[in-house]
Amino acid sequence: MAKTIKVGIIGTGSIAQNQHMPGYRKCKDVEIAAVCDVNETAAKAAAEKFNVPKVFSDYRDLLALRDIDAVSVCTPNKFHAAPTIAALQAGKHVMVEKPIAMNAKEGLAMCRAAKKARRILAVGLHFRYDENVLALKRYADEGAFGEIYFIRAQALRRRGIPSWGVFYSKELNGGGPLIDIGVHIIYAAIFVAGFPEPTAVSGISLTKFGNRNDVLPGSWGMWNWKEYNVEDNAFAFVRLEGGGAMSVETSFVANIPEEVFSFQVFGTKGGGRMSPAAYMGEQAGTLVNVQPVWLPKSEAHAREIADFIGAIRGECRVGVTGEEGLKVTRIIDAIYESAKLGREVKIPKLKI
Ligand SMILES: NC(=O)c1ccc[n+]([C@@H]2O[C@H](COP(=O)([O-])OP(=O)(O)OC[C@H]3O[C@@H](n4cnc5c(N)ncnc54)[C@H](O)[C@@H]3O)[C@@H](O)[C@H]2O)c1
Repeated sequence: MAKTIKVGIIGTGSIAQNQHMPGYRKCKDVEIAAVCDVNETAAKAAAEKFNVPKVFSDYRDLLALRDIDAVSVCTPNKFHAAPTIAALQAGKHVMVEKPIAMNAKEGLAMCRAAKKARRILAVGLHFRYDENVLALKRYADEGAFGEIYFIRAQALRRRGIPSWGVFYSKELNGGGPLIDIGVHIIYAAIFVAGFPEPTAVSGISLTKFGNRNDVLPGSWGMWNWKEYNVEDNAFAFVRLEGGGAMSVETSFVANIPEEVFSFQVFGTKGGGRMSPAAYMGEQAGTLVNVQPVWLPKSEAHAREIADFIGAIRGECRVGVTGEEGLKVTRIIDAIYESAKLGREVKIPKLKI
């Protein structure tokens, strides 16, 4: 019988209760041994729902438990770095929700802490396991795209500023749609493209709607427009090592015909589109678009947790490593920096 892995949950809000805790429950020989939330009522409610014996309101008390092997950090973005680093220093493996951190400086410190402690740092970027993304990755692995020279990544909402949480706050969320949903699509795109190294970025980041109360809100209702101080649109052109490039388009509000959450890869042998999944190529003297009629289903969040546990047992690697999560955040940082400066900025090479 495998040793039981004991897990702690830091931050027991929506992603913890809807994905992480059910995910751990599905794993064999895994026990959620403790939860922690600064909101004690929320922590107690989660503990009761999932039958967790120990409840804390300070993550340092949870980390002091010697028999905890791993933690999920499911706090708002501003509170990713400190508990993650403390957990790694306490010898725990960590799965931190996306984005890895508020910025690349914090993300780098987290990766270095993992390296020093020789513990696993995984990032909750679950589109790594999306069935369409996995299909494109298989095409890429078979060489069906040839050389990928351009990527178009789009996370565009027409009316989609969340009316809950802290998504309006630069201080707590680090930014708007770029850091919140752009992070997913940039990750998925560069995962399929084989993690090309970004070298320079030119971007804009704009607030055109979020701080107004005369904009139709859409089905999520009105957001906290009075305190809204993050961008609601961000666009960028990212140069990639080897001469290729990636465009990034993200919005919470935009006057567009429909929402888009997809990326395309442009290759010398073929092209791919995430959603709806398609392969564009040449066959028997014709130009073809191939659209799958069936794809293996993938429970993305559950697989992410299962692979984290598998990696702790030494059976597989985690879905998204800290370094991969950091690569996305380096791009996001550079887009915000370029937008602020009004010019292209270089992305320095990184050594962890
Ligand atoms: N992978 C995804 O698709 C996905 C979806 C939603 C949220 N997220 C990420 O998950 C994180 C949390 O988002 P959420 O929607 O669950 O938010 P939430 O507000 O529902 O929950 C966050 C919880 O963390 C608690 N908290 C805050 N600071 C804390 C601290 N220092 N120590 C302990 N607990 C603390 C809050 O009281 C709250 O209960 C964010 O980073 C977000 O980007 C990811």
